[in-house]
Amino acid sequence: MNTGKTYLITGGAGFIGSHLAEQLLQQGHRVTVIDDLSTGSEKNLSKILGRPAFTFIVSRVSACPELEKLVARTDVIFHLAAAVGVKLIIEKPLYSIRNNLLETACILELACKYKKTFLLTSTSEVYGKSPSHSFNEADDLRIGNPHLSRWSYACSKLMDEFMAMASWREHGTPVVITRLFNIVGPRQTGRYGMVLPRFVQAALENKPLTVYGDGTQSRCFCHISDSLKALMQLTKGEPPLGVGDVFNIGTDSEISIADLARKVITLTGSKSEIEFIPYEKAYAPGFQDMMRRKPCLKKLLARTGFKPETALDQIILDIAQSLSPR
Ligand SMILES: NC(=O)c1ccc[n+]([C@@H]2O[C@H](COP(=O)([O-])OP(=O)(O)OC[C@H]3O[C@@H](n4cnc5c(N)ncnc54)[C@H](O)[C@@H]3O)[C@@H](O)[C@H]2O)c1
Repeated sequence: MNTGKTYLITGGAGFIGSHLAEQLLQQGHRVTVIDDLSTGSEKNLSKILGRPAFTFIVSRVSACPELEKLVARTDVIFHLAAAVGVKLIIEKPLYSIRNNLLETACILELACKYKKTFLLTSTSEVYGKSPSHSFNEADDLRIGNPHLSRWSYACSKLMDEFMAMASWREHGTPVVITRLFNIVGPRQTGRYGMVLPRFVQAALENKPLTVYGDGTQSRCFCHISDSLKALMQLTKGEPPLGVGDVFNIGTDSEISIADLARKVITLTGSKSEIEFIPYEKAYAPGFQDMMRRKPCLKKLLARTGFKPETALDQIILDIAQSLSPR
């Protein structure tokens, strides 16, 4: 008898979703992915396409004709589909806002109707310009004004959180809200502004690594394999371990972007130089970045026992290996 569960992953042909789908299949579960391939790719699923326990549907979430049937027979929904990446958000703000709000509303309504566990992947961006050194889930949030498109990602994701929380409070939908902090690893693309794959790719080609601003801004990079453990753990149990609550997911080990660039060059044995360019040149006049973005992981640790394990050097080597020509 197959004791595996049934999972639905929206955005499952993307970076995080494709790794999640592989892991769940490996654990003996059945997985359906819905993805419109806007930033994801079928290539990300090449290891699992054709497996009997795996179904891939190319569609926008809201346009998927089988959506209601799929939700009705699923145990857990991982809702990852979203417009992702600062570059994309700035270039296509209206599309991004609509995508992040309307698609979430659509699938959340079905999760509510069938009382299915619904995990939302929100973002550290919701902390906005908070001056805190370690972002805590209970912190107040400080987002910039609507003249600056970059904040529309944070706002739309925050509204997703509010919708999910309201569905839990009003209707008892078993929702779990996660705020992801710079999750990195093989398959993440640098095309939409993600810094680490962009650096590693440039280093492998001995091209300049472009650092925006003076490079003293810092980030915390968490390996995909670590973050998957946290995501899966939070949906386990009846009711799920993370139900009705918000959790940071990431690592609290910090590095400045300039040091990150140096590390990438050293570890890949590259001849690349580092080039510093002003934010206004990279994005738009008035672009606002946060100097630090470090998660407080106490709540996640207390609830799940999760601790990130993969060191940054290993993460960089992993990405470099995945991008190297075979
Ligand atoms: N990677 C990170 O560090 C990070 C940080 C914070 C939050 N997140 C969140 O995690 C989730 C996954 O991000 P990722 O890094 O894997 O990005 P990704 O771009 O690789 O994945 C998003 C996927 O969603 C798909 N998609 C977008 N809109 C869709 C729609 N309407 N219908 C169907 N498919 C759609 C895209 O084609 C893509 O495959 C996103 O919700 C993102 O906001 C990621």
